[in-house]
Amino acid sequence: MYLGLDIGTSAVKALLWDGQAVCGTASAPLQVATPSPGASEQDPEDWWRAVCAACTELRTRPGWDGVKAIGLSGQMHGAVCLGADGAVLRPAMLWNDNRAEAESTAMTAALPGIGARGGVPPMPGFTAPKLAWLARAEPETHRATAMVLQAKDWLGYRLHGGFLSEMSEAAGTLWLDQAARDWDEAALAFSGLSRAQVPTLAEGTELAGPLTRAAADTLGLRPGVPVVRGGGDAMAGAVGVGVVRPGQAMVSLGTSGQFLLASDRHAPNPERLLHSFAHCLPGGYIQMAAMLNGAAPMAWLARALGQELPALLALAETADPVHTPLFLPYLTGERTPHGDPSARAGFQGLSHGTGPGEMMRAVIDAIAYSFVDAQSALREAGLDTPSPIVIGGGARSDLVLQTLANVLGIPMQRPAGADQGPALGAAKLAAVGIGDLSVEELAAPPEIGAVFAPRQEGRHAERLPRYRALYAQLKEVCARP
Ligand code: XUL
Repeated sequence: MYLGLDIGTSAVKALLWDGQAVCGTASAPLQVATPSPGASEQDPEDWWRAVCAACTELRTRPGWDGVKAIGLSGQMHGAVCLGADGAVLRPAMLWNDNRAEAESTAMTAALPGIGARGGVPPMPGFTAPKLAWLARAEPETHRATAMVLQAKDWLGYRLHGGFLSEMSEAAGTLWLDQAARDWDEAALAFSGLSRAQVPTLAEGTELAGPLTRAAADTLGLRPGVPVVRGGGDAMAGAVGVGVVRPGQAMVSLGTSGQFLLASDRHAPNPERLLHSFAHCLPGGYIQMAAMLNGAAPMAWLARALGQELPALLALAETADPVHTPLFLPYLTGERTPHGDPSARAGFQGLSHGTGPGEMMRAVIDAIAYSFVDAQSALREAGLDTPSPIVIGGGARSDLVLQTLANVLGIPMQRPAGADQGPALGAAKLAAVGIGDLSVEELAAPPEIGAVFAPRQEGRHAERLPRYRALYAQLKEVCARP
């Protein structure tokens, strides 16, 4: 039995995999704090509490006593700053924290070629500008920072005691020389750091260390169980559904969204804001259109209207097209294709006939439009976008997947257990790490539960250009303080 642990943004997920099938999952919710405009933070202790809660639930399932290895995954691009004693110095800054806008612009100017070397041009959500922001805004914390970790590597530190990471997670910091698969010292220096303040790198399939007695006692596992490094959530999600061979495609519809293609080489395309990042498999790469807003606008609307998501989705099925407004999904700025941290969401075209169902329908259309923009960015870079396997909470909805298929003009494949996501990939990486599974075997295709073939839906031909024009016209308005 292999245990996968994933620190998501809205929940921690724990999953048991026996080498063939998922034998149990448990999750514990997380909240995001926004203490000031543009901020997005979580307390790493809340991650640990959520890991303990999810494991407490999973412990009751058969197989827990037979856990042979643990694999890790988590939200990327963050910053957990530790002092010399290993204590957390401030709340973790998350992937959608947009405070480092000036530092991201400064990094682009200071390091010509960083977009190619680091895989994507600097944007405020990445770790490198965040640490430069910290140096300016909280200089004492920056001075006291002895180690900067990502969420899953901090969890690793709690489990095995080492400061260790792997290529896919390092890729998302913008401190990795993607082609060399090593830290980029000039990029680190821009953030006021050196190699001594970042974890040691290896491939995601490598062992990190044995589970400490203290962690084992807390989680109810055997001391010494091998912990495997794992991967950033986008890459571990891809491993979970066998997207490891060049050209294979995955769409992830979680809090964030990705259209990801597996690749065997670093082929940067900074102009289109595609992410050419190291995969969590030896020598592997990915090409990725990465969106900050993914399926999050659906959860946001349900919260804002005080309705349950399934009920709102049911209303969206029968929405009146005449009263369905346009929606821009940019609740937290956007990476691909805009690279615009100031972008914001909004409805256009509300009328007396617009109700919750029409608003939800507009949100679903907007998610599909953000993915067709992602598909265009990949195609303009000369990449094929074959029928993707779709994972994440948003993949539960038939209406969402059918709309995506209609707008993108390619079939969407929903695997059985689509919402298992990165935790499944983490469990598979654990199996590879202890030699029970080969990297080649990771390419085994998942069982497909449903395929959504594209259908003609004429209204998008008129709505998509208006959606694009709306962003272009509101850009300046959103940018104004
Ligand atoms: C990928 C990305 C997300 C985050 C949050 O670039 O931003 O995968 O890790 O899930």
